[in-house]
Amino acid sequence: MLSVKEALQKASSMLCVQNPKKEAIILLREWMQKDDAFLIAHDDFEVNDTEGFFTWVKQRAGHMPLEYITQKASFYSREFIIKKGVLVPRPETEILVDKTVELIKEYKASKVAEIGTGSGVISIMLALLLPQISIDATDISPKAIELAKLNAQKFGVEKRIKFHLTSYLDGVPPPQILVSNPPYISTKEELEKHVLNEPHSALFGGEQGDEILKNIILLSQKLRVLALACEMGYDQKNSLENFFKENKITNYSFYQDLSGLDRGFIMKG
Ligand SMILES: C[S@@+](CC[C@H](N)C(=O)[O-])C[C@H]1O[C@@H](n2cnc3c(N)ncnc32)[C@H](O)[C@@H]1O
Repeated sequence: MLSVKEALQKASSMLCVQNPKKEAIILLREWMQKDDAFLIAHDDFEVNDTEGFFTWVKQRAGHMPLEYITQKASFYSREFIIKKGVLVPRPETEILVDKTVELIKEYKASKVAEIGTGSGVISIMLALLLPQISIDATDISPKAIELAKLNAQKFGVEKRIKFHLTSYLDGVPPPQILVSNPPYISTKEELEKHVLNEPHSALFGGEQGDEILKNIILLSQKLRVLALACEMGYDQKNSLENFFKENKITNYSFYQDLSGLDRGFIMKG
């Protein structure tokens, strides 16, 4: 048996991450189902099943994303369920939600679709923020669809989002507004070990990286959607701008994330 203080010290020393102390606290807090204030106020409290706790610490030391261990991910200030095999939502994707909300309001749209829903965070946030819309959300990963349904139930929006195990929008009615955060990393890029623990089909978009994005742009044109909002890689603006020009698409704009990096685009029909 170890005390909270001893367990935190030992866990911090085992973690080769940017902020080992902070991550040790998160892991112990989740393991004990307590909050940070409890751990601080009761550092002599004995930790139950320390062996189990250190299994978690070893997983994290082996570059398993923290969210897969705790099965929780924060997005748009909500706590979503997350499981190994599905991409961990990133904070910059919250901007894509905001951009899509603006588009839906601008066009007074009610039919929205999302390609590559993953854990469902984008569609679920749109459903929570805009009670008048219905959404068709697709993914090629059965694990993602299963998890997205679970999250939709958690937030009480399961009746307003139809989840489809399909590629792109195959078999889905054409939407007014389309949103996607597709895989956009180049297969040539070297990623950090913890990122490589995430599903490769959610990360890599092809040799250049923007192949799926380009397919989605062409699909939006073909389906005559009113507007498309997509997240993209910070270095894909030039390639996508050329693609828009080649396809005689003129009504597009790019947006940046909070670090000032190019992060996405809006295309209007
Ligand atoms: C970068 S993840 C985004 C997940 C989630 N929307 C988010 O923002 O956290 C991309 C998702 O697209 C899915 N995907 C990849 N190719 C697809 C395709 N052709 N059609 C539909 N979904 C696809 C992957 O399985 C993955 O869940």
